[in-house]
Amino acid sequence: MGAAKDREVYRQRAVLERVFVHKPPNSAFSYNKRPMPASLRHLSPLDRILSVVDQGLRVSWASPRATAASGRPTPRAGGEPAPAPLDPATARHVAGLMRVNHAGEVAAQALYHGQALVTRDPAVRNFLQAAALEEGDHLLWCAERLESLHSHTSRLNPLWYAGSVVIGAIAGLSGDAISLGFIAETERQVEGHLDAHLTRLPAADTASRAIIEQMKQDEVKHRQHALARGGAALPAPVRAVMRAVAKLMTSSAYWV
Ligand SMILES: [Fe+2]
Ligand SMILES: [Fe+2]
Repeated sequence: MGAAKDREVYRQRAVLERVFVHKPPNSAFSYNKRPMPASLRHLSPLDRILSVVDQGLRVSWASPRATAASGRPTPRAGGEPAPAPLDPATARHVAGLMRVNHAGEVAAQALYHGQALVTRDPAVRNFLQAAALEEGDHLLWCAERLESLHSHTSRLNPLWYAGSVVIGAIAGLSGDAISLGFIAETERQVEGHLDAHLTRLPAADTASRAIIEQMKQDEVKHRQHALARGGAALPAPVRAVMRAVAKLMTSSAYWV
């Protein structure tokens, strides 16, 4: 009986390690344990707040690999020769675009964290946390691309994270229908924004394109899931304010 119980504990631990301990191939980072998603543990309200603070600190100042993510590999352009290095001016432009995308992912993940913090529905919370982990993949992919371009993420990320957590919590406190509608509208605006970036990226930059195209597929899925779960349409003034905030973030993150 005791041996069987031990075997079951080991089996469960192996499953969790397979899912949540991500070791990228050829990575110089030997310690890369992802935090266990809150949905797998019973968390008090204080635990949840501290978990969000922890995520904010990781996103703002830690290595991109220390941020919670689902662990999917970075999308690569398949069947094409390795892209030639970009000239310095083009590389700066691409880095600006990828910095904007990274800042957008910081905000997106923070919105999900803020919403998950306050929702009372465990199924909605699980959806939010799973989507936030996929936003974590996007964060890592964008940060890696910035590293390869010898550039940096936005210096304003702590501001975007903190502000977006608060906005997410306010949306969450408005009820799940509004909260999910807020996600659907956010993702819809992000999709448009990613489409615009695909037209602004140089054709030769297949590395950034592969990342953005996968991100767009994920955002479409997040929007569709939010709507399928009962997301409500938001009033036009709210959508307009969301566009204005996004504009402020994207125009500043390109440079800073
Ligand atoms: Fe995303
Ligand atoms: Fe998303």
